[in-house]
Amino acid sequence: MRVPGEPALRALIAALHDDLAAREITDADLAAERAAILASWNAPLRTAASCSPHLLPACRHLDAAMAAGRNHPIVSAIAPFLPTLSWRYGYPEHPEWPGLAERLAFAPLIGARAIFTDVAAHLGLTLVAPETHYPLHAHPAIELYLVLSGTAEWRVSGAPFTLQPPGALILHAGGIGHAMRTGAEPLLALYVWRGDLATAPVYVAEDAGPGGAGRASAASN
Ligand SMILES: [Fe+2]
Repeated sequence: MRVPGEPALRALIAALHDDLAAREITDADLAAERAAILASWNAPLRTAASCSPHLLPACRHLDAAMAAGRNHPIVSAIAPFLPTLSWRYGYPEHPEWPGLAERLAFAPLIGARAIFTDVAAHLGLTLVAPETHYPLHAHPAIELYLVLSGTAEWRVSGAPFTLQPPGALILHAGGIGHAMRTGAEPLLALYVWRGDLATAPVYVAEDAGPGGAGRASAASN
């Protein structure tokens, strides 16, 4: 399958950069992360010659999530990539939350094994089926999420769930546990990873603090 080229990627990066640049951000950590992302991907990225699209069961909700977010410029910019995405779920079975492989899916666009390669910052999509608890997990990478569609509950270790609507920015410091919980709508969100891009996320024990104490299992994505 032919891969959308650099122009399509540039349109996506521009949509993200425009969104971030237009925001009033007062939190110092979030402002620093925005500045780092605005400085990312300014050089040409290596493009995969071909790709092997792969769907997971959670992708049955992708059309609804895309339709719900269709007015967001980033959603429009990711649309050309949808036929080429390789959706993955790499965690082992969670001891308390079975069946997550049917309900969660992740698609890298810029990553180690993605359509485009970069060593400083990765970018991709997270899809969560309705009525799903994506339990606490952690990774050393710094993560910025931008919600594209679906209002879901989000929390970090030691804090309660709060509703995050489309357009919300959520910053996860490296090593801190974080979780999402969907209701009737699927959740589609864009993630950006920086820092340690080689270490996979792991499920952590409920309310494990920063550093990921109580790690239960490792994922391959
Ligand atoms: Fe994460």
